[in-house]
Amino acid sequence: MGCPGAGKGTQSAKLKETLNLKHISTGDVLRAQMAAGTELGKQVAALINQGNLVPDGLMISMLQNIISTTDQGVILDGFPRTVAQAQALDDMMKRLGRQISAVVMIDLPQEEVVKRLSSRRLCKKCGKPAATATQAACECGGELYVRGDDAPQSVKHRLEVYRLQTLPVKEYYQHSGKYVEINGNQTPDQVFEDICNVLKKVK
Ligand code: AP5
Ligand code: MG
Repeated sequence: MGCPGAGKGTQSAKLKETLNLKHISTGDVLRAQMAAGTELGKQVAALINQGNLVPDGLMISMLQNIISTTDQGVILDGFPRTVAQAQALDDMMKRLGRQISAVVMIDLPQEEVVKRLSSRRLCKKCGKPAATATQAACECGGELYVRGDDAPQSVKHRLEVYRLQTLPVKEYYQHSGKYVEINGNQTPDQVFEDICNVLKKVK
């Protein structure tokens, strides 16, 4: 978990290698649908670009489809984002005989979010963020682009949506014994080290 720009994608990419987990970013799945011009992609494009959430019913069935086709452990990046999604995830886990090991919240002050997202450019080919603000192309040779929802107005709205709809999910997990908070305002390697240290302690 974490607000827009907290580093969920960056840390998930590192963790999936170390722990041999499948990384499921619901935002990436939706953006792939948009890029492919599918019916679903067309349906959600305006909501995403404006910084609104996609309806719960759609997201829950999407996640159910992905999760039920893998036995591998997963990192959920960007799900659950509402209390209804958190409740649906609990039901799903029960039905599949699986469990949540940890809920990792990456904390980041709002000023830092705006700074990070206003300069983010992503690779069309490998999906990774560009390492510097000035490079013309990704290290892999792919073309760089700016996400539609990284426009300043959308970022402002995403932060408000996060405060109103996603922060209650923190309360949902806070007393579950699985919830941990990590300081996201450090270098990516320091954040990663902190996450690995807390994950060593969970069963
Ligand atoms: P999603 O794609 O999940 O976007 P988000 O939550 O807004 O988060 P971001 O992907 O922007 O940030 P991040 O935390 O992954 O940070 P990153 O690692 O990239 O969702 C997009 C949209 O899809 C939603 O708004 C909604 O419309 C829809 N959606 C998705 N899931 C949904 C759901 N469950 N229900 C309903 N709707 C849903 O890092 C950001 C930048 O900072 C990068 O440039 C990176 O290089 C840099 N950076 C990372 N870590 C550091 C660090 N430690 N120091 C300095 N820079 C850093
Ligand atoms: Mg992300």
